Amino acid sequence: MKENYALSTEKLNEIRASVDIVDVISEYLPLTGRGQNFFGVCPFHDDHSPSMSVNRERQIYKCFSCGAGGNVFTFIRDYENISFLQAVQKVATKTGILLHLANGSEQTIQKRSQYHEMYAIACKLYTNNLYTEEGLEAIDYLERRQITKEARKEFEIGLSLKNSHLLTGLLTKKGFTKEEMVQNGLALSKEGELRDSYFNRIMFPLFDLMGKPVGFSARIYRSNDASKYVNTKETEFFKKGELLYHYHKAKNIARMKEQVILVEGFMDVIRLFTVGIENVVASMGTAVTKEQLILLKKMGKEIILLFDGDEAGRHAAYKTSSDLMKMGVYPKIIVLEDDLDPDEYILKYGKEKIEYKIAHPMNTIDFKLEYLKENKNFSSPLDKANYISSVIEELNQITDPILRETTLLKISEETALDASIIRSQLVDLKDVVREETVSTPKPIKSLKMNRYQEAERRLIFYMLNHAEVIDLYKQKVKFLSTEKYRLLAKEINYFYEEHGYMKEADFINVLLEDTDLLNTFHEITSLSLKDTYKKEEMEEYIDTIYEYKIVKQIDYLKSEQKKIIDQEKKKALGDEILELQIELQKRKVWEEL
Ligand code: UTP
Ligand code: MN
Repeated sequence: MKENYALSTEKLNEIRASVDIVDVISEYLPLTGRGQNFFGVCPFHDDHSPSMSVNRERQIYKCFSCGAGGNVFTFIRDYENISFLQAVQKVATKTGILLHLANGSEQTIQKRSQYHEMYAIACKLYTNNLYTEEGLEAIDYLERRQITKEARKEFEIGLSLKNSHLLTGLLTKKGFTKEEMVQNGLALSKEGELRDSYFNRIMFPLFDLMGKPVGFSARIYRSNDASKYVNTKETEFFKKGELLYHYHKAKNIARMKEQVILVEGFMDVIRLFTVGIENVVASMGTAVTKEQLILLKKMGKEIILLFDGDEAGRHAAYKTSSDLMKMGVYPKIIVLEDDLDPDEYILKYGKEKIEYKIAHPMNTIDFKLEYLKENKNFSSPLDKANYISSVIEELNQITDPILRETTLLKISEETALDASIIRSQLVDLKDVVREETVSTPKPIKSLKMNRYQEAERRLIFYMLNHAEVIDLYKQKVKFLSTEKYRLLAKEINYFYEEHGYMKEADFINVLLEDTDLLNTFHEITSLSLKDTYKKEEMEEYIDTIYEYKIVKQIDYLKSEQKKIIDQEKKKALGDEILELQIELQKRKVWEEL
């Protein structure tokens, strides 16, 4: 068996068995049902109907719509966007099981928790600083910007003082080394002298997806002669492009509202929060990364881009819409007047105005066409030609045939260009390959199965939860003709021999790094079969599988026979084939050949 984690399988299984998957998933989404089977709305694809089933007996979940499935660890991993090991830790913490992790991973986990500890200390120091004498001016600044006390608390806003040795002093007292502070981005070492990375700035902590502080964005508030924000350098545990500001708090509200709003700056998030709009996250910088888009897509069915109203903001909205469309998502867009950013807009026009805007966003296509039309004069043939050629590129991106056609007609009308001319410029829809995102599980295809393979996978389905069926397999089957099923059956046997029991919820842990095996596993666990089985059914599958072996053997011998020149040997093979055919005939499956 492949050992994927520096954690023994026994320990992993112990942790898995210490919780009930139904209870755990209920903490994330409402489940309905009784007894063994519960249902909920799958969080891994856009859906309204309860397509995810959670099985108490088997301790697994399965979405019959998108194919997502697994055990309690994979659920937490995928829902929270954390590593497998972190998910295991979460479950272990729930039930108070202590983890003793081996070598490498223990080291990273230790390093990580040390990192979090240092940032938690820094965060606390900075928030306390607001209530010192120096803090008065900072609070005054925040109040002038109408950042309420409530918002200061929600976002854990703090202050670094003029004295640039406070944090390093505190961390030294707590036993952290100079190297650790510098490496983690909290201190600078200049000519041997240690100094805090931040001083004399308002501190906005940045949290990771789980809500732990991992970095800071520090804003000047007294003068204008330095760069506005200083950000924590990228570290092993802080990658700005993989985070969204306020994600850990906004995600539940966004899921509930089925809508998430993306803004550019964290000040915008804070402003929207102060007027009661909380399903908001910020990308915090220039280009929105693919990782951020994947996160966003998971947060809510409807994505609204609320970027700055200036040209840079509109351009960013245009670019981000295109990226999202490639992921199969059509976001809504809000354009703000007077080049304002959302913070300024709300301060100027108030809560009702922004609420109205959020309730009436533009759709992607309308926004893009508007954007492309900006500064273009249709009475100039060159402008018009430029517009049409960029619009054709847009149309080529649209995979929905109806949307494509209606948009085309609209363009034809506004440009007074014949629709058939525009149409002739388009790439055939059939040839448009939509880029798949890594996070979306592929829908379960209805596989073309012959009855032999159906028997193979049904047998495996029961092997996954019934040791007796594995015993039957070992005594009577031993070999499956279809390679992928054979490999999976081998893993099952392996697991059973090693652990003395079989449970798919545990077994899945050994498959996680083998995509092929995992796909086969998902294919089989997606079968809609009863949990319990009848012995006769298994006998029937075993018989069918046996026939398949004979059929395959005959095929093999026939192809061998063709290659052989020696007549004696050819005849011997022919006899063998005949014998097998007779055996098959006895089983009355001649018609299958
Ligand atoms: P903005 O310049 O729009 O900042 O940058 P803002 O949100 O309006 O901030 P205020 O209102 O002037 O205080 C948007 C985002 O880009 C990042 C920050 O994350 C900011 O929220 N940024 C901006 C930096 O990292 N560094 C900078 O110097 C400027
Ligand atoms: Mn601003």
